[in-house]
Amino acid sequence: MFSKLLIFFIGFIVLTIEVNSAESWKPVYIQPEQLHISLGEQPTEIVATWTTMEKTSDSICHYGEESKQSFDYSSRGYQQKFIDGGPKKRHMYIHRVYMKNLQPDTRYIYHCGSENGWSELFFFKTFPKGNEWQPRFVIYGDLGNDNAQTMSMLQEEIQLGHHDLVTHVGDFAYDMHTDNALVGDEFMRQIQPIAAYVPYQVMAGNHERDYNYSNYNHRFTMHSQGEKEINNHFWSYNIGPVHLIAINTDFWEHIQYGTHMIENQFKWLEQDLKRANEPENRKKQPWIITMGHHPLYYQATRPDNKIRIGNEQLPGLEPLLYKYGVDLSFWAHDHIYTRFLPVYNEKIFNGTRQDPYFNPKSPVHIITGSAGCREFVTPVHSNPNPYTAYVSNDYGYTYMTVLNETHIQLRQISRNQMGKVIDEFMLVKEKHGPEAWLY
Ligand SMILES: [Fe+2]
Ligand SMILES: [Fe+2]
Repeated sequence: MFSKLLIFFIGFIVLTIEVNSAESWKPVYIQPEQLHISLGEQPTEIVATWTTMEKTSDSICHYGEESKQSFDYSSRGYQQKFIDGGPKKRHMYIHRVYMKNLQPDTRYIYHCGSENGWSELFFFKTFPKGNEWQPRFVIYGDLGNDNAQTMSMLQEEIQLGHHDLVTHVGDFAYDMHTDNALVGDEFMRQIQPIAAYVPYQVMAGNHERDYNYSNYNHRFTMHSQGEKEINNHFWSYNIGPVHLIAINTDFWEHIQYGTHMIENQFKWLEQDLKRANEPENRKKQPWIITMGHHPLYYQATRPDNKIRIGNEQLPGLEPLLYKYGVDLSFWAHDHIYTRFLPVYNEKIFNGTRQDPYFNPKSPVHIITGSAGCREFVTPVHSNPNPYTAYVSNDYGYTYMTVLNETHIQLRQISRNQMGKVIDEFMLVKEKHGPEAWLY
């Protein structure tokens, strides 16, 4: 009897040890991932944002000039627990660190993490000082986790240093919150080979809306120049001779939750445009360029587009853009590339008979929403409106090179045609501001 009991007892201990050790072998998820950078409060700052699945001891970036091959600087930031709104209430930790006192036009190496582990080594190059340089933008919207047709091309071009920054004009991952935010995690891993090397500047689309934009709000870090507060919904920044403004046009699409978001943003936008038009500011940044997800114009006429014209309760955007002499507006949402003739109030305002884009008499609109997602592309309309100048539903993205205060070069790159430039034009403005419409 005693020996039977002893065997049982020993057996119980062995089993307990096994169960305990199996539990203690559960992996820990403290390795930094999904790292990306964006423009900080000042042009001398770059913010790094990344994720760990569990809390780590600290949030730190080590950085230094590439030419010295050493981490001469260290910045400490913070981590915030993010709980996804899905049924599993998955959580993760989002880390933010501001790399400060950066020299202009300098290449830095960096890594981020903590004593629990560092990310891979990445690099970025700061913008030159002042306004006399030629920013090279890549612009696209509607890039998903699945069918991300242009992802590998973008990853390679960015790593080779072909571009200074990326602007993603809404609709990410499809969707970041899908499958308890696992889709968001994987998408953010996919863009790391882009977004860890150049500022990845974003605005929200309809696919970010769920759970009150919470995945979008937590995973990105947008600042207006000179603003301490993070605001991922509307922000503006001076980049060379460009004053870039990003807005959330999705606010117009769910007014059942109230109109205060539109009103707040509208007030901010008007203030921002006013300031950008003060003569000394417009002299330094003659180009005012806006970006937002839902377009004001499509291939087919939509006379009741409330984002453009507003309604009884709400203002529309088009009169404001016109009043303050916005030069160029980028949109996405329609999974297609569309270049419009200069248009205002559905009327064409070409610059000259030979060249619509030479001193145009209204803003110029472009849709670039064909980067690739699981909703595929929009068909080309068989009978588009008269102000639609060129349409392609090849997967692709847009290059914008700001040559100087009078010339911007725009090119559309096709993924279907292995990087071929399928549309190209020069926007020329010898005068900026509302007076350009009469020039
Ligand atoms: Fe989309
Ligand atoms: Fe959309």
